[in-house]
Amino acid sequence: MARETWATRAGFILAAVGSAVGLGNIWRFPFITAQEGGGAFLLVYLLFVALVGFPAILVEFVIGRYTNLNPVGAIRELGSGAWNYLGWLFVGIGFVILSYYSVVAGWFLRYTLIGVVDGYALAGPEEAGALFGTVSTGLDSLLFHAVFMALVIAIIAAGVRKGIEVGVKVMVPAIIALLLGLAAYAFTLDASGAAYSYYLSPDFGYLVANWTSILPAAAGQAFFTLSLGMGVMITYASYLGEDRNLASDAGVIVALDTFIAVIVGFVVFPFLFAAGIDPGTTGAPAIFVSLTSAFSGIPGGRLIGIVFFAMVGIAALSSAISILEVLVSYLIDEFDVGRVPAATAIGIAVFLLGVPVTIDLIFLDLYDGLASGVLLLVGSLLLVLFVGWLIPDVAREELRKGITSLGGLDDAWIWAVRVPVVIAIVVSLYLGIVDYAD
Ligand code: PHE
Ligand code: NA
Repeated sequence: MARETWATRAGFILAAVGSAVGLGNIWRFPFITAQEGGGAFLLVYLLFVALVGFPAILVEFVIGRYTNLNPVGAIRELGSGAWNYLGWLFVGIGFVILSYYSVVAGWFLRYTLIGVVDGYALAGPEEAGALFGTVSTGLDSLLFHAVFMALVIAIIAAGVRKGIEVGVKVMVPAIIALLLGLAAYAFTLDASGAAYSYYLSPDFGYLVANWTSILPAAAGQAFFTLSLGMGVMITYASYLGEDRNLASDAGVIVALDTFIAVIVGFVVFPFLFAAGIDPGTTGAPAIFVSLTSAFSGIPGGRLIGIVFFAMVGIAALSSAISILEVLVSYLIDEFDVGRVPAATAIGIAVFLLGVPVTIDLIFLDLYDGLASGVLLLVGSLLLVLFVGWLIPDVAREELRKGITSLGGLDDAWIWAVRVPVVIAIVVSLYLGIVDYAD
């Protein structure tokens, strides 16, 4: 059977944006920003996205479009020897990320349902914390993890055009519309002024004193949010014909993902300030606690809460499908397995790997710390070394296709990929591992 391709020009961009925009922007970005000092983190994160994320996403695009293969096959075609293991690393990372991603996405589905059925009338943060405890552990968590994985499997089983492309055409515009509506509402809250200034004015003294933890956090967040370092963008670009301008597509995708994360800050921080919650005390779970207690205390909070949680669920779905697609495309290309059995079997394996996270939140920190602190950085590092030093001419040639005038961008890109991007990742990785170890 011929390999699938995107049906429309917009299909690729929307799918890549759908992959990029997800829990990384809406759940992870605000709590990491709060943990790392607000505006100071935002600044470093923005620099990292522009200077490292943009070149790194192009690296994945050229490999995917050049080979028209899954990441394992693509790297085997271009390299030899030990490089083959890099594709395997991607597949392994995909398993880890999707397993906990699905558990957290399940919580958002559950919170949507709670809003519909009961509303968020909670006495205060303690009650909100107790609610989170019920949602995030045990059978509740397991059930919604299963529901979410079932949705992911169903879309991927339906295929590139009928599943992914149709899905993202609905989901991506919905996310953007809902988010802008929420930001406009947040703007009307009294607390918004204080929230904006916390969010937007970087404290340079704080930055200098804490750069060894801000830098690795910003790096991990940048790769995670752009879906880099595990072959998603290789896979999506592998369904492309040769006519796209990859540089401008990358620009659109990176800009949209960043825009959405920044806007989420304009939603979440005013809600936190309005509820009198110190953003620095929020963590992976506390974003749920603080937002539900915020939603229970503001006018129209129930409806806003439902819209917010449902939006995150949709965004998570359009990202999760991209991870499962990496694993499934590998089975289809390499072993000639059918799409439906491949999606089902891998989906079940991912579900099982996620089970510990539904039992104890320690596993969430463990999986997420490992994936975004170490694995995605290692994956991206090896890939940029591979492209920059082993196949720079192939890569440059591939980038030129579909572009009329590059004005030296191709040379600047290869130069960046060879040295500065490598240094930035190595330093972040080193600091991150030191941090993770203690
Ligand atoms: N980029 C996605 C998000 O921000 C997460 C993701 C990471 C997706 C890695 C694919 C691969 O939610
Ligand atoms: Na993202």
